Amino acid sequence: MCGIVGYVGEQHPKEILINGLKKLEYRGYDSSGIALVGDKDIQIIKALGRIVNLEEKLEKSKVVDSHLGIAHTRWATHGGVTEANAHPHRVGKVTLVHNGILENAASLKEDLIKEGVKFNSDTDTEVGAALINKYYDGNPLYAIKKATSKLKGSYAFGVIFDGDPKLYAIRKDSPLIIGYGKDGNYIASDIAAIINYTKEYSLLDEGEIAVLDDEKIEVFSDGKMVTKKKITATITAEDADKCGYDHFMMKEIMEEPKVLANLFERYSDFDKLPDLSKYKEIHIVACGSAMYAGIVGASLIEEKCNIKCYVECASEYRYKKVIYDRKTLVILISQSGETADTIAAMRKAKDEGIETLAVVNVETSTIARECDNALFIGAGVEVAVATTKAYILQVAMLSMLVIRTVNDKKALKEAKKIPGLLNNILEHKDIFEGVGREIYKVRDAFFIGRGIDYAMCMEGSLKLKEISYIHSDAFQAGELKHGTISLIEKGVPVFAIITDENIKDKTESNVVEVKSRDASIYTITNDDTVPNHGFRYVVPKVSPYFQALLLVPVLQLIGYYTARYKGLDIDKPRNLAKSVTVE
Ligand code: AGP
Repeated sequence: MCGIVGYVGEQHPKEILINGLKKLEYRGYDSSGIALVGDKDIQIIKALGRIVNLEEKLEKSKVVDSHLGIAHTRWATHGGVTEANAHPHRVGKVTLVHNGILENAASLKEDLIKEGVKFNSDTDTEVGAALINKYYDGNPLYAIKKATSKLKGSYAFGVIFDGDPKLYAIRKDSPLIIGYGKDGNYIASDIAAIINYTKEYSLLDEGEIAVLDDEKIEVFSDGKMVTKKKITATITAEDADKCGYDHFMMKEIMEEPKVLANLFERYSDFDKLPDLSKYKEIHIVACGSAMYAGIVGASLIEEKCNIKCYVECASEYRYKKVIYDRKTLVILISQSGETADTIAAMRKAKDEGIETLAVVNVETSTIARECDNALFIGAGVEVAVATTKAYILQVAMLSMLVIRTVNDKKALKEAKKIPGLLNNILEHKDIFEGVGREIYKVRDAFFIGRGIDYAMCMEGSLKLKEISYIHSDAFQAGELKHGTISLIEKGVPVFAIITDENIKDKTESNVVEVKSRDASIYTITNDDTVPNHGFRYVVPKVSPYFQALLLVPVLQLIGYYTARYKGLDIDKPRNLAKSVTVE
């Protein structure tokens, strides 16, 4: 997902913008660029790959004296990874950066070409710049308003106009904030980019246009100036730092006991938690790991609350026919709160008049703000693209919802022990490093389990594949004999997750099936009577509410160490973005 930073003020923008882009690297990108407004012209420098390449080009350039600039990290959607396609894009008197997808760019481009506009890139963004330029006759607000009225899709724009000392910004569906500084003002995709310069910011709402100069920020909605609520960031510069760990992912795994304890503490008196028993059915809608957390939660909701609970990935849910009972609750799970598919699913339910509940991390996010109610997991900043602590807290939050609904005070007492038990497991990280060392050269790795164990397999498999690029799949253990066992061959690692004592023998028999085909078995269980077929790690046995909270971190660490042995970019895996704000 692309990242935007902009600055106007007393300082030279270069360092501010480069540092801002570095704080946005976690969003995933493949090129970057910067535009600096000089006295006479706009200097635009772009580079492929990492931001350090952009820095090197800047070092070799004579950088103009400047007080206004915009910068961007691009995650390619329309047009390949080339310098020409990198942002900022400049057409006529307009220079801009963009996060989002302009869905009608192709048809608009055809019309603009007929009007004589020359394009230098394959991007939808350049079309946005051309359209704003088309309507620019010296009035930036009019040009932005008129041009964006023609656009379909999502956008967060940072815009500069030749000869105008101000910075302009507008958003639709893609998040954008405005930051209030002492010696200037900022725009950014999220507060982490500018946290070293200011903690005071506001969220731009849909369609609002911000006009920034070195002293003030004005925001307009439908031509009228509006007053924006100022927010003081709770994150610290340290949050955006590795604090001595080699990777954010390891730092964030190690934070799990602490943030888990905070969540249990914050919700232990139940009064912030809705009672699920008033709903006839529950839909849990999310993407990726958030969906896998939902599958664990759904198992608990059905098992303990006897409420029908469906889990759907948001990219399907948003387009499928959904038959709603009026007493349905739709729970949207999202770390970022900005995942485009999950936002669309939320809006679908709201359009049908169905109650929505957000389980989110970013309290100022679109999903947090638009859902009827929101529960905040309090993970703090999660920088690594591969989610770890947020996943654990999403599961924990759903467990707390169930515990509250069935008023299980015994479980509340047990919750207090979980962070300590997890801490003990994380101290065994060398064991999991050993597993990484054993498997990092394999081509395939599989995870098998039944019931809630299968839900954990899905997350374990995703963690491994998204950061180590090893092909991995999660299989319902009982399904192996119906086809997938054909994939088992000598030495292929099979992770057997066995915690449900009602079906442990069934899964064990599936383990024996794959072992008899020379698979290498790694058993992770809560029961030391489960056989050891080469590698077995036993986590403490706790109630089903909390079992995943102790087991999945083991799988997170195995994925981490495997990727580490492969020497990969663990925090910023190829092709991935931290928050997928585009379809
Ligand atoms: C998980 O490691 C991935 N980063 C990805 O699956 C993620 O969980 C998914 O994109 C949902 O993101 P969200 O929680 O911010 O909505």
